[in-house]
Amino acid sequence: MGYGKRIDILCSLLKKTTTFADVGCDHGYCSEYMLKNGLCEFAILSDISKGSLQKAKTLLSSYIEEGKAKAVLGNGFFGVPKDTQEVLIAGMGGEEIVEILSHEIYGFMPEVFVFQPMLNPDKLRFYILENGGYIERDFTFEGGGKYYDVIVGRKRKDEKKQSYTAMELEFGYDNIRERGEAFLARTARKLKDVQGFLQNENLQEKSREELLSRQERLRKVLNNEVE
Ligand SMILES: C[S@@+](CC[C@H](N)C(=O)[O-])C[C@H]1O[C@@H](n2cnc3c(N)ncnc32)[C@H](O)[C@@H]1O
Repeated sequence: MGYGKRIDILCSLLKKTTTFADVGCDHGYCSEYMLKNGLCEFAILSDISKGSLQKAKTLLSSYIEEGKAKAVLGNGFFGVPKDTQEVLIAGMGGEEIVEILSHEIYGFMPEVFVFQPMLNPDKLRFYILENGGYIERDFTFEGGGKYYDVIVGRKRKDEKKQSYTAMELEFGYDNIRERGEAFLARTARKLKDVQGFLQNENLQEKSREELLSRQERLRKVLNNEVE
């Protein structure tokens, strides 16, 4: 694919579909991948920033002219119909993704989704499970020396609601089960950071307690002591 490791991994997780929306598309690479490879019939490129959207519009101008793509300037799912079959939201905070999904007018749980939150993946996992989503894959990967969480899933059909433990919500179901290299390396790095913060003698009692509890959870994960 050649878009860089993070984007290439995201592209590899996308499924063949009819309508695809890339919300917060910026450059538009993932939509280009979908259209170029015949993986969708129609793509919606959406971004809240005019400058960002312009990049995707320029990259995909021929598809827009052909009627195979449209660009939408707006917040979240504004301009993204609720029957859009597959949605990618990557590179935003987990809380921001929850805001988009839960928006009182435009929000919906997509039929198929790939979310790559930069922060607070636990909040996004919780929202998905509580609001009609089904998580199929949920893991950490490395790209360009940084670590990313990705959550792949779909709207829940007849299955029972998935029940994640507190550790699975915090760290990701597949991470806890599979203990992949990227996940363990990131966890070790986080543990080191927490241990560094704990060296600070001026920490408030509450912060120290929170850090100690986090240290314990990270240590348990690394030692595979999770239930
Ligand atoms: C860090 S970039 C990520 C771009 C691309 N999705 C990726 O993963 O490489 C985040 C993009 O999301 C857009 N964005 C942020 N909040 C948004 C929102 N609420 N609705 C739509 N776009 C948003 C920004 O303008 C920016 O272009």
